[in-house]
Amino acid sequence: MILWISFTYTGLKMAPTKTPKTPAKTPAKTASKVKLSTGLSTDVIHQGDCIEIMKSLPKGSVDLVFADPPYNLQLGGDLHRPNNSLVDACDDHWDQFDSLKEYDQFTREWLTAARDALKDDGAIWVIGSYHNIFRLGYILQDLGFWILNDIVWRKANPMPNFRGRRFTNAHETMIWASKSKDSKYRFNYDSMKALNEDLQMRSDWYLPLCTGGERLKDDDGQKAHPTQKPESLLYRVLMASTNPGDVVLDPFFGTGTTGAVAKKLDRRYIGIERETSYIKVAEDRLKKIARLGDGEILHTPAKREEPRIPFGWLIERGLLKPGAVLTDSKQLHEAKVSADGNLIAKGQAGQHRGSIHRVGAALQGAPSCNGWTYWHIKQGKTMVPIDSLRQQIRDEGRGSLQ
Ligand SMILES: C[S@@+](CC[C@H](N)C(=O)[O-])C[C@H]1O[C@@H](n2cnc3c(N)ncnc32)[C@H](O)[C@@H]1O
Repeated sequence: MILWISFTYTGLKMAPTKTPKTPAKTPAKTASKVKLSTGLSTDVIHQGDCIEIMKSLPKGSVDLVFADPPYNLQLGGDLHRPNNSLVDACDDHWDQFDSLKEYDQFTREWLTAARDALKDDGAIWVIGSYHNIFRLGYILQDLGFWILNDIVWRKANPMPNFRGRRFTNAHETMIWASKSKDSKYRFNYDSMKALNEDLQMRSDWYLPLCTGGERLKDDDGQKAHPTQKPESLLYRVLMASTNPGDVVLDPFFGTGTTGAVAKKLDRRYIGIERETSYIKVAEDRLKKIARLGDGEILHTPAKREEPRIPFGWLIERGLLKPGAVLTDSKQLHEAKVSADGNLIAKGQAGQHRGSIHRVGAALQGAPSCNGWTYWHIKQGKTMVPIDSLRQQIRDEGRGSLQ
């Protein structure tokens, strides 16, 4: 259901509100609103100015902010393609500011309100182009946010530079920042690695623009919103930095892309948008989405959240026998398993006795070593890492150990 609150913002001189391209209609009501024990209502769209509405939210109540604010594109006149057709650029009234100073003041105010709404361990993502991202980054740092990464969204299908006077503008930048330097922000490292076929996820993301069936249309078949973001972008953002049940606030909701992905991934959302026509589009979109409620599908257990299994347990349970010989995957080094769970090995500098990690590091002359992935045991004709034996114990004990 839409929480139908209308706020009028008077603290800043905004460009006059013109009628949006799509005619405004009264938004349909849905019955999905959820009130949390903290008193915060989620799965709602608030209509009005985001600064005023964010100020009205309980302080320290949301886990993540995703913000796609006005770009302040400062377009000077119409842009035509070589065949003289008009380019559908973002020239909407909500993207117009009288000066950079006014844009900066607006940015400072909404970022301050967003920071207040965030939990101490919360984080923010802001997306922008070269027109505004540097200003956003500067102000974020001024306000005490702690920048964690800047992500380059490389567009698979960017719009060409029709005038041929500059490079094709083929990317946007997202800044990911925690509320403060001390925030214990969430990063689902293992989910990102899993999404990327077991390779660390990099900070350059190659994703297409929102086109085809995903692009929402108005009653005249025109784009319902000039800057609708692709769901794939939000999928990665939310998978990386939230857990099921977390509350995600989007102060520039537009067509509700953040809400749509949040709902698909069983996160809670709070959207804020000024324009009635966009709210209507977002409402219709969100109504059609079913919540995925299966924790096993949605949750990637982080390796460091898994129960600790000491190496000695493998011996106690008979998965490895005292005297068994372990080698690295290339069979350059070997070590014998002792009855107390230490390894014994002969290296160039003499005998080593210690944990799987310490002996692995000593034999390689390395400062550290993950013994679980370094040491292997022969099973039949294949070598398997001892980590797979640890996993057997975790699988047996799932439920009782957690
Ligand atoms: C760049 S668009 C966001 C598009 C959105 N991410 C999507 O995928 O559809 C920015 C949106 O912010 C809204 N907006 C601009 N200023 C606002 C304000 N002060 N308060 C609330 N909404 C605002 C605009 O109407 C516009 O829909």
